[in-house]
Amino acid sequence: MHQIEVSSNQGKQQKFEALLPQIVSLVAGESDLIANLSNICAALKQGCGYFWVGFYMVKGEQLVLGPFQGPVACTRIAKGKGVCGAAWVKKEVILVPDVHQFPGHIACNSESRSEIVLPVVKDGQVIMVLDVDSNKPDDFDQHDKWLLEKIVNMLSDN
Ligand code: SME
Repeated sequence: MHQIEVSSNQGKQQKFEALLPQIVSLVAGESDLIANLSNICAALKQGCGYFWVGFYMVKGEQLVLGPFQGPVACTRIAKGKGVCGAAWVKKEVILVPDVHQFPGHIACNSESRSEIVLPVVKDGQVIMVLDVDSNKPDDFDQHDKWLLEKIVNMLSDN
């Protein structure tokens, strides 16, 4: 049985440090990418309470919606567009405290207020991005960045 244990009486970093090995072991015995990305999204939704968490997969010149948890979302994003497209082109993590201040932000959901996007790089190429949205402004900090970077690094190393 696969289950995520989430403690409610710990600080954010402690909570994330307890969550990370659970996510690592969740995907460790499975080689199917879609299965693993799906479970990562579910674990992040359950463990961190994110409003929307999901992957966009690089397909040609577009990002195409992959496994996610949360409200329905845009299916395709052109290269360089939105926060996701920018993270792809720049090959870097983009943290947006207020999406209304990010030129070209794509509002898949009108409730989204802050966002963090991390590219997954394999053999020098971005193969997908991990996108996390919050319905609260300025909702992501260094603890979120730490946890999410560990996850994209794990996917990059595969
Ligand atoms: N806001 C993103 C689009 C994806 S949705 O948030 C799920 C962007 O600007 O790239």
